[in-house]
Amino acid sequence: MELMEAIRTRRSIHEYKEEKVDHEVLSRIFGEAAWAPNHRMKEPWHIRLYQDKGKEAYAQAVMKSYQRQGFFDGYDLNKTQRLQDGIQDFLLNIPHHALIYMERDEDIRKYEEDYAAVCAYIQNVQLLAWEAGVGVLWTTSPYLHDNQFYQDIGLDSQRFKLVSVLQMGYPKRIPKPKIRTPIQKKLSLYDGKEKS
Ligand SMILES: Cc1cc2nc3c(=O)[nH]c(=O)nc-3n(C[C@H](O)[C@H](O)[C@H](O)COP(=O)(O)O)c2cc1C
Repeated sequence: MELMEAIRTRRSIHEYKEEKVDHEVLSRIFGEAAWAPNHRMKEPWHIRLYQDKGKEAYAQAVMKSYQRQGFFDGYDLNKTQRLQDGIQDFLLNIPHHALIYMERDEDIRKYEEDYAAVCAYIQNVQLLAWEAGVGVLWTTSPYLHDNQFYQDIGLDSQRFKLVSVLQMGYPKRIPKPKIRTPIQKKLSLYDGKEKS
């Protein structure tokens, strides 16, 4: 697949087939994505892949975080249970959840460089996955800022920053493209010439 085609046709995927992606395929995607630019060659990305039975503990931690954040407040027990079952099923039906995190650098400039590099890495993952027929949804849900969530999944929130959870699997449905703004509206040129 040409780069331009991959960039243009890639879509955020919200619905997945049940079938898992072979570990070799995922491993190649996460491996090749590491050619992302990164300052000082820190390669700041870390990936934790939840799948199969491993998804249960992850989904449980997400649910507890939603509870703490008042997501279910005001609903009666029945409704709360239905909402929770719905979220649980939704998460368990996604074949892979890839937690992407990085070490927190105390120096804000380095922290920002690392964060930017991890985002470049994630986009590489998205494009490589797309080329392999694998769909991804880049998510940044509130639990990524919940210290107790870090604790529940066994990650030190002082040391690490969660950047995203990538939902992954073969697409069941590919959404229509959301058309982008013509770049002329955002691109300004300063070339030292007088405007006529
Ligand atoms: C940093 C970041 C966070 C995102 N978080 C979410 C999210 O939490 N939930 C979601 O449905 N989509 C999320 N997205 C995906 C965007 O909604 C999506 O890229 C946008 O709607 C354009 O659609 P496309 O990727 O199919 O072109 C996120 C994208 C980025 C770059």
